[in-house]
Amino acid sequence: MRDDFQRLFGREPEAEGAAPGRVNLIGDHTDYAEGFCLPMPLAHETRVAMARASRFRAASLTNGETKEFDPAGPPRGDWTDYVAGPIAELAKRGFVLPPVEVLVRSDVPQGAGVSSSAALEVAVIRAALSLLGAEMSDADIARAAQAAENIYCGVQCGILDQMACAVGRPGEALLLDCRVNEGRLVAVPPSFRFAVIHCGQERRLVDGAYNARRASVEAAARLLGLVSLRDATVEAVAGIDDAEIASRARHVVSENARVLAAVEALRSADALQFGDLMVESHLSLARDYEVSTSALDRLVETAIAAGAFGARLTGAGFGGCIVALIAPGEAERWWARVQAENPKAWAVQL
Ligand code: GLA
Repeated sequence: MRDDFQRLFGREPEAEGAAPGRVNLIGDHTDYAEGFCLPMPLAHETRVAMARASRFRAASLTNGETKEFDPAGPPRGDWTDYVAGPIAELAKRGFVLPPVEVLVRSDVPQGAGVSSSAALEVAVIRAALSLLGAEMSDADIARAAQAAENIYCGVQCGILDQMACAVGRPGEALLLDCRVNEGRLVAVPPSFRFAVIHCGQERRLVDGAYNARRASVEAAARLLGLVSLRDATVEAVAGIDDAEIASRARHVVSENARVLAAVEALRSADALQFGDLMVESHLSLARDYEVSTSALDRLVETAIAAGAFGARLTGAGFGGCIVALIAPGEAERWWARVQAENPKAWAVQL
């Protein structure tokens, strides 16, 4: 990283920051309803290096581009928004960064639903704070990164990705309570292995459909007279007249319960139980929430037929990845079987 910075900008970087991608083990489309999620950082990470300069410039080793940007100006609609947005959010919080040159290097797959954008936002904030000699808690870093994504990048996402990238620890699951924005680390037993497989289908129509799902969930809470669906019961949700809103809400309420049950299954190293909860989660996301695709459904089915304890789509859906719980030692054989049936699939993490 230092050598690349030297080569591109002709001097040493002054500060660096890093953050991993994430996989969500269970608990999707619950974060914006003040619910529970259970993400885990991936081994892949994004690194950012920066040094003071006469103007803001960012270079990416991923796409080979070098571009000027302006954190005080409007979004540009390209990858530099994920650098400029966090710098703009830091300024709002009193941490004003002078012009810097920024180098980005990442092996987090982009557009795969494993939080490459959150990893970049968090890494930028960490590098900027280090350059300023300033500090923020990991949860506050996550909030600033989410605000950058909401305001600057125009995606009305919840806090799941940014908390997972900022607060998560490698090899451990993170039980997130999105009502209070707190995470509790949960050990993953050595008998559990989570494989992350891309279905080969790029995520499409995500932003519009995502915002529509979020609007249905907020409408459900309003119909029930609640601030969020966190306090809704299965019975209350069943009483909602609008069938579509009722099924969206049913997903959220049942998914929250599954996350808490999954944490118990992790603690007691019960892979069968955890796997069953993953399968129920996938069906709920497919039928009630309608965010799955035929490629994701097929991958989940073959993952289980090939010996996984359970599997489910992970993240927003509409393409991207599944996560499967497999036995350590079985990974290579399991993957060979899955790949034979899904030639377009590729392993993000085995
Ligand atoms: C995307 C969003 C998250 C979360 C997930 C679905 O990753 O960025 O906030 O809503 O979808 O769980």
